[in-house]
Amino acid sequence: MALRVLIPEEKIQARIREMGAQIDRDYPDGTLHLVCILKGACIFLSDLARAIQRDATIEFMGISSYGRGKTTSGEVKVTKDLDTSVEGADVLIVEDIVDSGVTLNYLTHLLQQRRPRSVRIAALLDKPDRRLRPVDVAYVGFQIPDEFVVGYGLDYAEKYRNLRDVCVLEQTP
Ligand code: IMP
Ligand code: MG
Repeated sequence: MALRVLIPEEKIQARIREMGAQIDRDYPDGTLHLVCILKGACIFLSDLARAIQRDATIEFMGISSYGRGKTTSGEVKVTKDLDTSVEGADVLIVEDIVDSGVTLNYLTHLLQQRRPRSVRIAALLDKPDRRLRPVDVAYVGFQIPDEFVVGYGLDYAEKYRNLRDVCVLEQTP
């Protein structure tokens, strides 16, 4: 398999600075609760959190919907829940990529049941062509075509998460 750079490091970093500034402008005063979806969003979270100037907390949630392949199983499971209540809080879900939308559709509904003040989504990448379930993504880094990408937190069978660029993983004949 071969890697082709789709979004280079500098573009990712520049876009995240813009997203952070936008988030700072959009929210009313008070603490913003960043909920990082493990493991893919951990690198995006660490850069986005530092691009946000306002008070923010960081929480982690584990969700599995994919297994080891490239397509969704359609089944969503919470593998690690939040440690704290989000009742009355402004919650920003931080995710690596929105693909079918199954994961985030499920997660948004789950968190809404806990009566936060608001729930929004920030996703680094969005593949709109693949959507099966509706998801309202307030902050999108980049819309990308329907190709399987790795790097900057995203994996294929747990590999490539530590690449600095977002790359397309191409099958070599
Ligand atoms: P969805 O439920 O289909 O929207 O899937 C979202 C999850 O699938 C993401 O959080 C990723 O973990 C994974 N995923 C979707 N597309 C890709 C990709 O191109 N590369 C790596 N992981 C992906
Ligand atoms: Mg993920």
